[in-house]
Amino acid sequence: MNPPSLFDPLKIGPYELKHRVVMAPLTRMRASRPSLAPRPLNAEYYAQRATPGGLIIAEASPVVATGFGNPGVPGIYTETQIAGWREVVDAVHAKGGFIFLQIWHVGRVSHSSFQPSGALPVAPSAVAIAPEFRAMTADGKVVEYETPRALETGEVPLMVEAYRQAAKNALAAGFDGVEIHGANGYLVEQFLQSCSNVRADQYGGSIENRVRFLMEVTQAAIDVWGANRVGVRLSPYGIANGSGEADPMPLYSHAIKSLDRLGLAYLHFIEPRASGTGRADVDWKNVPSAMVLYRSMWSGVLISAGNFVGESAQSAIAEGHADAIAFGRYFISNPDLPRRLQRGYPLTPYNRATFYGGEEKGYTDYPGHDEMAEA
Ligand SMILES: Cc1cc2nc3c(=O)[nH]c(=O)nc-3n(C[C@H](O)[C@H](O)[C@H](O)COP(=O)(O)O)c2cc1C
Repeated sequence: MNPPSLFDPLKIGPYELKHRVVMAPLTRMRASRPSLAPRPLNAEYYAQRATPGGLIIAEASPVVATGFGNPGVPGIYTETQIAGWREVVDAVHAKGGFIFLQIWHVGRVSHSSFQPSGALPVAPSAVAIAPEFRAMTADGKVVEYETPRALETGEVPLMVEAYRQAAKNALAAGFDGVEIHGANGYLVEQFLQSCSNVRADQYGGSIENRVRFLMEVTQAAIDVWGANRVGVRLSPYGIANGSGEADPMPLYSHAIKSLDRLGLAYLHFIEPRASGTGRADVDWKNVPSAMVLYRSMWSGVLISAGNFVGESAQSAIAEGHADAIAFGRYFISNPDLPRRLQRGYPLTPYNRATFYGGEEKGYTDYPGHDEMAEA
């Protein structure tokens, strides 16, 4: 039997994918303001990247107003935002694609200027991100991170409820599933890791306690969607936003084995070599591979992301390290990425200056291969 290929079909939950080139969740900061609802430009961007039977994971979207750390990010907690997302989803479905929504809370990776009434950001513990990392205020100033306010024990279930409501809202918007953002130093990962979680209650201390919030949030999404339409994204060995567990293996082994029992749609890794690609082009050397390390602990579909190009994606699939590969930056600059990879067409380089914020420039104006050939 031939080894599996990037262009073989793959079943994810109830969905029959026609290929394994997934669009990674990408924050682009181009929602309407002040509603923070997706707008027609966003629908056009996603539709350009939709393919029949292809999977898009839509950008991280805060579950509640305290969950933001960047301007112009779309939310998933108001009726207007749900209506905006419905247009995005409809546009992707019209092209025969599938689309999950990544649901998010940044926790301490925020600043009081983003918070309702200018309050301090909330987090598992009152531990600030180290000063070598810089926060951005709502009006664009670069400052040190503030020390967040630790959520009280009684507030944690309310946060879980916010994720549950966001999962319901995503269902109402017509998405095909949701992905829990458990990566990159944001709220869920802040609970997981001992550098950001020094709680003394049932959500801190032992590994089992630190994994509890992830499990409760995931269960809340499962209650709404059923397990086979819920995915989880993790970044073991990542260092984004001041994160990093000194000894990731015991923590992530426990988390992954616990998640594996739930029968989720998929587990999604950010490879450590690409940790922090949102801020700079990196390829950390001599770091372990998440997919290689944890594959044996995961019995379901495994998606991996981080510095892949066609050839390395193809070999990761052929060697059985992952079932699908998510592409971030090259999906920004190549709206027809699956086709280009399949045909071996050259890839258009991305322009980092237009990643975040703005209008169509660097967003919907990247041509497909055929349009370039005609020009
Ligand atoms: C502009 C930009 C925005 C990103 N936004 C998100 C996000 O919203 N959620 C997330 O989990 N990862 C996010 N990431 C990480 C990507 O999903 C992806 O894992 C990373 O870019 C590595 O893949 P690549 O090498 O194919 O770009 C972002 C990365 C970039 C460059």
